[in-house]
Amino acid sequence: MTRILAVTNQKGGVGKTTTSVNLAAGLAQSGMRVLLVDLDPQGNATMGSGVDKRALKLSVYQVLLGLATAESARQKSEAGGYDLIPANRDLAGAEVELVNLEHRESRLKAALKSIADQYDFVLLDCPPALNMLTLNALVAAHAVMIPMQCEYYALEGLSDLVNTIKKVRQSLNPKLEIEGLLRTMYDPRNTLAQQVSAQLQEHFGDKLYTTVIPRNVRLAEAPSYGAPAVTLDRECKGSQAYVDLVEEILSRSGLAAVAP
Ligand SMILES: Nc1ncnc2c1ncn2[C@@H]1O[C@H](COP(=O)(O)OP(=O)(O)OP(=O)(O)O)[C@@H](O)[C@H]1O
Ligand SMILES: [Mg+2]
Repeated sequence: MTRILAVTNQKGGVGKTTTSVNLAAGLAQSGMRVLLVDLDPQGNATMGSGVDKRALKLSVYQVLLGLATAESARQKSEAGGYDLIPANRDLAGAEVELVNLEHRESRLKAALKSIADQYDFVLLDCPPALNMLTLNALVAAHAVMIPMQCEYYALEGLSDLVNTIKKVRQSLNPKLEIEGLLRTMYDPRNTLAQQVSAQLQEHFGDKLYTTVIPRNVRLAEAPSYGAPAVTLDRECKGSQAYVDLVEEILSRSGLAAVAP
């Protein structure tokens, strides 16, 4: 059974892309077949997967507009060990161009239909906005993974996201679940982080992953080498946390890691 996860939070810089890329690589290392879809015109997941966003023949932009199939736009991330549908700044125009197309919210879902069953996991790295691209991800996904920093304004932003998820459930994707909330760049000595963490626990219970991702410079450096930290340096604290997250996700979904 394929599991399609939208990695989303409209707040910028909370670790969506770092999570998408390292989770994709970590799942692949556990023997899972993984497709990562970059849905952000910034193309950070593309670059972080070792694919040059300036040299793309086809990207998710053409896929969404129906100018290319998902199959023809995907390529291998050699560095990550997974497949990638890349993105670059072309995608910034998609928002406007989609407006006039039919079923504009479900273009990604339709495009992925033909290839999704070749994968155990499809991860959708969303842009920092509740826009048409994110909506396409929420319609295509089985569940949402929300990376967040435990800061004062985090909870406020979270309620907007949860409301959007509820609206999508009422209309376009009744089965959309919250897969989990992931605390990123976490500093356990920070009192505010502890307080926000406690509130998340209270509101979301076991939807809050027990794994937390610490602030770790190796995670931040990895994109400059064009590879996920998990494949560059599996032993660093940040990578280990993502490896733990993979285990938590696999055990929650009743899957065991397969030896590669
Ligand atoms: N655990 C971490 N420790 C240290 N740095 C991190 C960590 N996670 C992410 N970063 C860094 O923080 C910045 C933002 O992370 P990232 O790009 O993953 O966030 P994002 O939510 O995808 O951002 P955007 O909203 O712009 O797409 C990046 O420079 C990244 O390298
Ligand atoms: Mg990002």
